Amino acid sequence: MAVLTPTSIDTAALRADFPFLEELVNGKPLAYLDSASSTQKPRQVLDRVRAFYEHEYANVHRGVYRLAERATEGYEGARRTVATFVNAPSERDVIFTRSATESINLVAYAWGLQNLGPGDTVVITELEHHANFVPWQFIASRTGASFRHIPIDDAGELQLDALAGLARENSIKVVAAGLVSNSLGTINPVERLAAWAHEQGAIMVVDAAQAAPHRTIDVQALGCDFLALSSHKLCGPSGIGALWGRRELLEEMAPFNLGGEMIRSVGLDRTTFNELPHKFEAGTPAIAEAVGFGAAIDYISEIGLPAIERHEHELTVYAMARLEELAWVRVFGPPVERRAGIVSFDVEGVHPHDVAQILDWDGIAVRAGHHCTQPLMKRLGVAATTRASFYLYSIAEEVDRLVDGLHKVKKSLG
Ligand SMILES: Cc1ncc(COP(=O)(O)O)c(C=O)c1O
Repeated sequence: MAVLTPTSIDTAALRADFPFLEELVNGKPLAYLDSASSTQKPRQVLDRVRAFYEHEYANVHRGVYRLAERATEGYEGARRTVATFVNAPSERDVIFTRSATESINLVAYAWGLQNLGPGDTVVITELEHHANFVPWQFIASRTGASFRHIPIDDAGELQLDALAGLARENSIKVVAAGLVSNSLGTINPVERLAAWAHEQGAIMVVDAAQAAPHRTIDVQALGCDFLALSSHKLCGPSGIGALWGRRELLEEMAPFNLGGEMIRSVGLDRTTFNELPHKFEAGTPAIAEAVGFGAAIDYISEIGLPAIERHEHELTVYAMARLEELAWVRVFGPPVERRAGIVSFDVEGVHPHDVAQILDWDGIAVRAGHHCTQPLMKRLGVAATTRASFYLYSIAEEVDRLVDGLHKVKKSLG
C-alpha cells in the first residue's frame, strides 16, 4: 500500500481554523474533497467580514464621513492585497468583479467587441472551463471572428505541436487558456502560450481561477495581458473575483457595465468615464466580500503558496498511488508531476452520480459531473467523471476514506 511522506504544512493545526470541517454528515466526519469547486472558509476570514460589517461598514468612494473613509480604505486595501498577490505593477490595474467568470466576460465583451472582426481568430484550449470557453465562442460569433482550439492528447495535456498549424492558417487575435484545468488538474505552459500569442500579435488571457489558490501567480513573469481569479476558491467569500489587465489595454477598452461610480461626468448629451479601476466597477461593489477576499489572501499567503502547493502535490501523489490499487478505477489526466491537486476518475460500470451519492452516505464530498467542461468530456469519451480535489486542509485519512468508500461503491453497484 502507498505510504504518505510527511507533509510540509501542519494540516492538523490549520484544520482547526475551519469550523465547517467539524460538520458531521450522516453522523460521520466530513471529508471535503471538492475544493476545486469551492473552498471552505477559515475563522480569520469569517471574523474579518463580521468585524467589517460591525465596525467599518458604509458605502465606498462616496461619503466624506469617517466611516465611509474607513470602508473605502478596507475595500481599496483589499485591492492592494490582490495586486501584490499577483505581482501586478499597479493596483489601479486590478478590477473587482463578481467572479472569475465575470472577469473573463469583461474582457470578452469590452476588449473583444472592440477589437475582433471577420478574419480574426480566437484560440482557446480543449481543456477550458465553460467560463473561458463560452464567452469567447459567443463574442467570436457576434463579431464574425473564427473560434479555434488547441487540442489535447490522451493524457489531457495540450498538443503544442498544433500551434504552428493554427498560426499558419489564422490571424490570431486572442489566446485564452487556463493555468490549471479544473477537471484534470493539468498545469498548462502558459508562459509559452503567452510568448506564442504575442508572436502572433494576439493578447493572452489567463484563467487563473484554479491556479491562484494553490501556486504563486506572477502576471509579469507569465507575460499575460489579462488574468482572472476568484475569491471563493481560495478561502474567501463568494460573489467577488478580480481581473488584472495590462494598463494600455484597459485604458483603451470601453466600459463593460454602466451606471454610478464608473463615470467622471454625466450630461444629457454626453457621459465621460472614470479613471481605472473605477471605469469597470459600476454600482455599489461587493464591499465586505472584497475585504474578505483580502483576508483570505493574507491567510493563504501566511501559510505560503509554495508550502500549499507542496502539500497538495504530496497528497495527490498518495491519492494516485492509492487509486492505482483499484484495477476497476480509471484515472484521467496527466502524470502527477504535471498536475495540481485534482484527480478525476471513472469507476467501471458505475455512473459518477451514483459514486458520489454512495460516498456521501459516508460523509465524503466529491464532485460528479462534467465540471463545466463538456468539450473536454467529449474528448475523453465520457459524459461525466467523479472528481476529488484537495486544498491546504485536506489530509491523507480523507484519501483513505475515499478509497474505502470506492470499495463499497464497487461492491454495491459495480
Ligand atoms: C478553471 C475555472 N475557471 C473559471 C471558473 C469560474 O470561476 P467563478 O466561480 O469565480 O466564476 C472555475 C470554477 O469552477 C474554474 O474552475
